[in-house]
Amino acid sequence: MGKKILEVKELTTKYITRFGEDVYAVDHVSLAIEEGKSLGIAGESGCGKSTLALSLMGYYFPPLHYTSGDIIVDGKNISTMKPDAIRKSVLGTEIAYIPQAAMNALNPTQKIIRFIEDVVRVHHPKMPKKEIYDSARKRFEELGLPASVLEKHAVELSGGMKQRTVIAISTILSPKVLIADEPSSALDVTSQKMVIKMLRNLMDKGYIKSMIFITHELPLLYNVTDDIMVMYAGQIVEKGTAKEMVFEPVHPYSQGLMGSIIVPEAGTRDVKLTAIPGTPPNLKKPPSGCRFAERCKYVTNECRAISVGLKEFGDDRSYRCIMDVDKLREGYKHE
Ligand SMILES: Nc1ncnc2c1ncn2[C@@H]1O[C@H](COP(=O)(O)OP(=O)(O)OP(=O)(O)O)[C@@H](O)[C@H]1O
Ligand SMILES: [Mg+2]
Repeated sequence: MGKKILEVKELTTKYITRFGEDVYAVDHVSLAIEEGKSLGIAGESGCGKSTLALSLMGYYFPPLHYTSGDIIVDGKNISTMKPDAIRKSVLGTEIAYIPQAAMNALNPTQKIIRFIEDVVRVHHPKMPKKEIYDSARKRFEELGLPASVLEKHAVELSGGMKQRTVIAISTILSPKVLIADEPSSALDVTSQKMVIKMLRNLMDKGYIKSMIFITHELPLLYNVTDDIMVMYAGQIVEKGTAKEMVFEPVHPYSQGLMGSIIVPEAGTRDVKLTAIPGTPPNLKKPPSGCRFAERCKYVTNECRAISVGLKEFGDDRSYRCIMDVDKLREGYKHE
């Protein structure tokens, strides 16, 4: 086993709304990523992917609150660090986060090099502009971006170029973990491919040591990440290698996610199945039993009554369901 770059144990966080209600968006999530590896997180809208991404940085501000659990980055536990310490010694260097729709949030009146100066100066307040510019130019060129982008404003860049620029800015300090939240979702297919190529390039060149890639599309992760976790209603419902998760999903929810999208790969189904019927539960009042119960075709009264933890099987895989793995697999084959 390689060195663990990120280890998360039983992380639980919640929103407290202005009406004082709790929204349990991240519930006892555990994960680990080794050096040089990438993890994909998939799940439909509202299942807690972005909240998990935010929570992983250990940087909490209302309405998001930390409840319990550990976040260990390269051996250092950051879960109980104060926000100021997180900002100074974690963000950008240990963990970099590219928020969902980050490219649309870039201040249009500022030159790209200024964003880079802002990021670098948090950690190197005295570094001369020329030095920052030279290293940014070198990094941009190595990542296949023209150095002329540095002198441009965000409005002058196309969507794909803007997204790749955001990624280059966020990783300028070579963070150990990069968390990219839906980095390719709003882009056309060509730009998507370029974004994914760039993320791979960052990893191959050692500018990032590990990556978390978030998307609502499970099959997209097959070509991007080593491992995949599927999230449902704030919980992990299944984990495995990308190949296992795409070709042999076990949890009825992962099976539904997989089955609802066409994948033009040998061995996968070529018919477009209907999306999973129903909607996720309200996270203000999550059900006490299985959170997927009301949408599951195998549901029994026992499912509604008992909350099952993740069960391990095979070679480092796990799933959260009362049913036996073989029965679930059998059911998928005959779907
Ligand atoms: N600021 C907030 N205050 C209260 N609840 C919130 C807040 N932001 C998100 N939520 C709730 O937390 C849950 C998880 O939302 P989150 O944005 O993490 O989902 P997601 O998986 O990233 O969805 P998407 O695919 O649409 O980006 C949802 O029920 C959402 O309504
Ligand atoms: Mg999101």
